[in-house]
Amino acid sequence: MSTKRILTIGEPLLRTASHPVKKFDARLSMILRDMAQTMYDAEGVGLAAPQIGLMRRIVVIDVGDGLVELINPEIIDSQGECAMVEGCLSVPGRRGYVIRPEKVKVRAQDKKGHFFELEGEGLLGRALQHEIDHLNGVLYVDLMEHEVFDEEEAEEVEA
Ligand code: CO
Repeated sequence: MSTKRILTIGEPLLRTASHPVKKFDARLSMILRDMAQTMYDAEGVGLAAPQIGLMRRIVVIDVGDGLVELINPEIIDSQGECAMVEGCLSVPGRRGYVIRPEKVKVRAQDKKGHFFELEGEGLLGRALQHEIDHLNGVLYVDLMEHEVFDEEEAEEVEA
């Protein structure tokens, strides 16, 4: 396993759409392990493959309930609306207030290629949307209402 360098805003790969994963092989498992280690080392709750310069539709998330690995994830349903403060490992030192659907349903594949569905609200719902945006070259700063400088915000996601 190894920790990868996390690309930061301004690097063109962060603005590029990633390709679907077609091979569910040992290399994919290795990428997932490296991504999880990189996320944990950076103390983020999520990481998308383009953040380490790998243009594949792969996401890891851990909002405190264990590691979730998502290959080729797609949002198939969303409900409600909520505001939350988001940060991003690729936008260091900044945070912003973003309004998004409160709850999402995602369809994805696991590392063996099996399809599954996952529902998330709260931090998980937020992390799912934030990471899937990365796969499309979208950063939270594109969506935010305004930047946040106050240290006393209640709910926050750094992904
Ligand atoms: Co991010």
